[in-house]
Amino acid sequence: MDLFEYQARDIFEKHGVPVLGGVVATTPEEARAAAEQLGGGTVVVKAQVKTGGRGKAGGVKLAHSPEEAAEKASEILGMDIKGHTVHRVMIAEGAKIAEEYYFSVLLDRADRSYLAMCSVEGGMEIEQLAVERPEALAKIAVDPTMGIDAEKAAEIVEAAGFPDDLKDQVADVIQKLWTVYAAEDATLVEVNPLVKTEDGAIVALDGKVSLDENASFRHAEHEALVDRDETDPLEIKAKENDLNYVKLDGEVGIIGNGAGLVMSTLDVVAYAGEKHGGVKPANFLDIGGGASAAVMAAGLDVILSDPQVKSVFVNVFGGITACDAVANGIVQALEILGEKENKPLVVRLDGNNVEEGRRILEHANHPLVTLAETMDGGADKAAELANA
Ligand SMILES: Nc1ncnc2c1ncn2[C@@H]1O[C@H](COP(=O)(O)OP(=O)(O)OP(=O)(O)O)[C@@H](O)[C@H]1O
Ligand SMILES: [Mg+2]
Repeated sequence: MDLFEYQARDIFEKHGVPVLGGVVATTPEEARAAAEQLGGGTVVVKAQVKTGGRGKAGGVKLAHSPEEAAEKASEILGMDIKGHTVHRVMIAEGAKIAEEYYFSVLLDRADRSYLAMCSVEGGMEIEQLAVERPEALAKIAVDPTMGIDAEKAAEIVEAAGFPDDLKDQVADVIQKLWTVYAAEDATLVEVNPLVKTEDGAIVALDGKVSLDENASFRHAEHEALVDRDETDPLEIKAKENDLNYVKLDGEVGIIGNGAGLVMSTLDVVAYAGEKHGGVKPANFLDIGGGASAAVMAAGLDVILSDPQVKSVFVNVFGGITACDAVANGIVQALEILGEKENKPLVVRLDGNNVEEGRRILEHANHPLVTLAETMDGGADKAAELANA
């Protein structure tokens, strides 16, 4: 889960990372009040959207009075930044910046490790810097069992080329950012820019944090950070039913058991779709091993609520839960859904006790259900029906 900058700021503050005052506002009036609350001096009005490049898009503006903060907020609120509408701004205390640096620590899947990146040339052009002068961006592997201790932090600031008089101060902030990463179970903590102010303080002026949702069971407090406005309502519904669902933008709804099977089902449907008007998978949905009637009904319900879906392909491999149990699950799910089930459904069953499973579905003889013998055949039929 990606956080907004103001949420990252709050988490930084909680772990002792130096930040400036920041207050969220959703209207120009609130922005004025926030600027007053911060002392009435110079503030920066910052668009809160979960995408980079806000500054360049005009979403970060200086204001010298509460009055001006309200004006800038009214310009920025409602703005579109790379497809994200700005619903809130953060009014941040203005810093007198002497230098801008860059620091991040992230999960490096390819290396099965963590990676810290740091540069004395931070600011808005960091992506460009990484491409054009990679030597200016220090990359240091971080052993997950060790983390960033004093020694590792010293190695990072050395490699980044900080001047001697700043090394200790920056290393200290980097260790605190590591505390954020470890204690909050993050997969990314990025500060760009980390600044030196004119009076020599090191401050995190911008923060990006991604939290690892696999660890949410030990962070009840993270639930409050979920942005209900932006999360797809279908994904919320799926989550409430403990389903592994990802909305895609095609027309063929997909249900399968096991992530691997579902992934390959997406592939065969996309491939079959090329012959049928270019239809594509509408979602990823793994109902897991159980495939009970309740789970099947919940899964179908989520998929059928997607107005883009024109047909559904149920592709289940019976293992411990045999095909007859799955078939009964489908039949009962159709009963539970009743009139809600109004789109053609192609079912392909294979594996343990497949004959009995097919017999149950044939016997139920639901008008919208077609049985398929093979995965390719099922994908083709579902794509054809979606294109009809
Ligand atoms: N509180 C502040 N006081 C003074 N200047 C600021 C402040 N916050 C940001 N700035 C200036 O604005 C620039 C852009 O801000 P910021 O890094 O937050 O946005 P961004 O980098 O454009 O957005 P993103 O990080 O989403 O790409 C900074 O590099 C900094 O120069
Ligand atoms: Mg930034």
